[in-house]
Amino acid sequence: MGPHTLSQVLRHLPVPNDPRLLVGLETSDDAAVYRLNNEQALIVTVDFFTPVVDDPYLFGQIAAANALSDIYAMGGKPLLALNIVCFPDCLPPAVLGEILRGGADKVMEGGCILAGGHTVRDDEPKYGLAVAGLAPPADIVTNATARPGDLLVLTKPLGTGIINTAVKVELASEDAGREAGRCMSALNKEASAAMLRHGAGACTDITGFGLLGHAAEMAAASKVSLQIEFYAVPLLPETMEMARMGLIPAGAYDNKNHLEGKISFASRLKPEEQLVLCDPQTSGGLLISIPEAGAGALLNDLVQKGIPAAVIGKVLPPGEKLINVI
Ligand code: CO
Ligand code: CO
Ligand code: CO
Repeated sequence: MGPHTLSQVLRHLPVPNDPRLLVGLETSDDAAVYRLNNEQALIVTVDFFTPVVDDPYLFGQIAAANALSDIYAMGGKPLLALNIVCFPDCLPPAVLGEILRGGADKVMEGGCILAGGHTVRDDEPKYGLAVAGLAPPADIVTNATARPGDLLVLTKPLGTGIINTAVKVELASEDAGREAGRCMSALNKEASAAMLRHGAGACTDITGFGLLGHAAEMAAASKVSLQIEFYAVPLLPETMEMARMGLIPAGAYDNKNHLEGKISFASRLKPEEQLVLCDPQTSGGLLISIPEAGAGALLNDLVQKGIPAAVIGKVLPPGEKLINVI
């Protein structure tokens, strides 16, 4: 669902008031966190969606990497996962078999146990997982603790929404499609471990609301403003080219409209450049806010592990806008 409709609906839900709930609805974070005791907090999340690629095995991998990511974004270790499946009668069951095999392989790569699930007959296939993880309460990295002076590190390039759209109409090259698939199916496991080692201040993963949508949630929850440098943001190959041809998913426009008034763009940035930053991501990277002293070491660590991370901006005191894109 788009951010606008979703916020309208969520507004009417009762806000739970329990001191054991460390992270709930209010800060639009990645997962719910429940304090079990002084040593352990339980992290719970759920994510599922319609296929973003034709290959069912790859789709399964991507959906699982995406679901696990919310645990990694909070600084946790995934323990247990359950499949959520919607599947039509008209497709061969072998297709579902491949989706589930892809998901199971990624869950295993995450050191997590796949222990069951639930299936529903539906016209359109959908797949994802509910995942539970653990972390010491002190290690939980929320999106509400970015501090002025922190640098912002992004661990995957943007553009999966645009490239997936362009692949569907066969305008993106096969190489670009493959690269997007590789990017979406990559776990955020190593990036999460690295941010914990180097003392990250705040984190969220970049998914459906796009870089600016999730960054704005971080800025609002942390009561700071963010400065993001457009040319520092890594993009998947052919993203700008496809965006200039208008191959931009409707979700990017929704995301941008929802941020109206909260973001200022440098006047030289073209509409399609602004929209790329709002492109809804599937299984995107982590956006990490980290004190400058640890940022260099974090970046080295990530790059050494083959993660194409980049510093894309910095955290500033609260200002007129949540985000300034320069
Ligand atoms: Co998330
Ligand atoms: Co999520
Ligand atoms: Co988070």
